[in-house]
Amino acid sequence: MKTSPRLSLNNGVLIDQLGFGLYKVPPADAAGLVTMALEAGYRHFDTAAMYGNETGVGKAIGALSGYAGGGPGGGSGEAAPPLSREDLFVTTKVWNDDHGYDATMRAFATSMSNLGMEYIDLYLIHWPCARRGLFTESYRAMETLYREGRIRAIGVSNFQPAHLERLLDGAEVVPAVNQVELHPWLQQDELREMHARLGIRTEAWSPLGRGHVLEDPVVLALAAEHHRTAAQIILRWHLQLGNIVIPKASSYARLRQNLDVFGFTLSDTDMAALASLERGRRTGSHPDHVN
Ligand SMILES: NC(=O)c1ccc[n+]([C@@H]2O[C@H](COP(=O)([O-])OP(=O)(O)OC[C@H]3O[C@@H](n4cnc5c(N)ncnc54)[C@H](OP(=O)(O)O)[C@@H]3O)[C@@H](O)[C@H]2O)c1
Repeated sequence: MKTSPRLSLNNGVLIDQLGFGLYKVPPADAAGLVTMALEAGYRHFDTAAMYGNETGVGKAIGALSGYAGGGPGGGSGEAAPPLSREDLFVTTKVWNDDHGYDATMRAFATSMSNLGMEYIDLYLIHWPCARRGLFTESYRAMETLYREGRIRAIGVSNFQPAHLERLLDGAEVVPAVNQVELHPWLQQDELREMHARLGIRTEAWSPLGRGHVLEDPVVLALAAEHHRTAAQIILRWHLQLGNIVIPKASSYARLRQNLDVFGFTLSDTDMAALASLERGRRTGSHPDHVN
């Protein structure tokens, strides 16, 4: 099986285009699931302070010294080289209650302690919480930590165009990523165009629409045509658009299936059929309603 290609962020840091998302993974299951995902070939993990599972993620990654298994090719009889922290990409996020310069500094310290890590690859503002009016202060704290080398790339999540404009007014570092809800029913064309103009990578959360888009008849027809699953069709669509994707799954079979999307291509006609599914339908909260 091919592994995920890597994309360059706007500061040259490389990120696996396809990673594993840990929202709603119970804390007690996180270490086991991350270990399973490592074995399946994942090298990029997306957690958040709010998910409550940073400790489990850190535990699985911390146990890596001596880890020599897994990954594509594992099981082929050849010994895979051991993985180390530098082979992995880990994202966490500052939660809404911790907006502001000092609060974000404290939240970062707590996350790093939970993860048991010296540095994080990507740190995001989880929601803009525009009514609180503090996201520029949080971002200033993140710029400080970035300059100190504690964070390899900084970014945002759930930012709409007006939030990005306000952030960029005072920011010294252009965010590397904006992680937003994105799937065939909510394609975020305006944001994607703005990101492309500004050099910000689009990262899709709920890339499968929390599973709902898997039932879409157009997706199912394409799955039958390509002899692939609905999840593979949707993930392939994301990859061909250039999105970073972080599907969540709970079994080894699904983890493997979601990573097995590099051996086929959707045609322009297939991509157009999926583009026609836009319906402005969210499966999660609207950023204006989270404060
Ligand atoms: N920044 C934010 O505000 C934000 C918000 C939401 C999510 N996120 C991030 O985005 C990640 C992914 O989003 P999500 O977890 O909401 O939704 P998702 O990845 O779109 O969908 C996950 C659902 O799809 C199912 N699924 C996964 N692979 C499948 C397959 N091959 N066949 C059939 N069903 C499959 C999963 O079932 P099982 O688990 O039962 O296998 C789960 O119910 C999160 O884990 C989190 O890291 C970020």
